[in-house]
Amino acid sequence: MIEVRKLSVAYGAGRRQVLALSEVDLEVGEGEFVAVVGPSGCGKSTLLYVLDGLVPPTVGAVKIGGEEVRGIPRDVALILQDAGLLPWKTVQQNAALALRIQGRKGDVRGVLKQLGLAGFERRFPGELSEGMRRRVGIARALALHPTVLLMDEPMANLDSLTRERIQNLILELWQRLKFTAVLVTHDIEEAVFLGQRVFVFTPRPGKIAEVVDNPDMGQVDYRDSEAFRARVHHLREVLVGSAA
Ligand SMILES: Nc1ncnc2c1ncn2[C@@H]1O[C@H](COP(=O)(O)OP(=O)(O)OP(=O)(O)O)[C@@H](O)[C@H]1O
Ligand SMILES: [Mg+2]
Repeated sequence: MIEVRKLSVAYGAGRRQVLALSEVDLEVGEGEFVAVVGPSGCGKSTLLYVLDGLVPPTVGAVKIGGEEVRGIPRDVALILQDAGLLPWKTVQQNAALALRIQGRKGDVRGVLKQLGLAGFERRFPGELSEGMRRRVGIARALALHPTVLLMDEPMANLDSLTRERIQNLILELWQRLKFTAVLVTHDIEEAVFLGQRVFVFTPRPGKIAEVVDNPDMGQVDYRDSEAFRARVHHLREVLVGSAA
């Protein structure tokens, strides 16, 4: 479904050039949920921008559904690092924004309801809690009915209960809607909770240091299991090792 071949991305030119990603090869299967972890500045957001057609590869190629990514693909939705809401637009307008940009119509109200935001359609982001704002960002992406959902730290800076709730919500939505998901996160436990495989990136220029399999992802009460704790421990060791 997603194929990344020898992807390198450099920002800027000449002496000021920064190599963000270096020769990244990866594949994500249709309907698979993968997590990406790695130190700050290693190119995780850059990878998502390339998959969403916002940044072109400097070298290499990226295909989604067999087609090379050129411009913003219709079936791909990206949830930005800070949810990316416009403060002067209502919940309804923010959630409809991605659809509007694509000149499409969709059931925004239904999606807001699924995410527990019914009744808040006419509120502004400033009138919501942080957890609700993140859910509006998720609603905006889901309103597109994406086959690929890209998420850039959608749970960062949330209190731990709200974070768990939104993690559960994302898992539930994925199990129901069966999209392909790429989640960038700093949180090791989150990567293990949501990633069927976890790609561990090296410090910049980011490349894949290791891929950790996590076959128990999605099991009932996984978070409270021994297997979960063992996987978290393993991933932490891999991360520390790859950053050394
Ligand atoms: N527009 C830009 N111009 C120049 N350099 C950039 C630009 N955007 C990112 N970079 C550089 O590319 C590298 C990768 O950035 P990116 O945002 O992808 O990292 P990240 O892994 O998402 O980091 P974080 O975990 O802090 O969000 C960074 O080191 C940064 O210095
Ligand atoms: Mg980032």
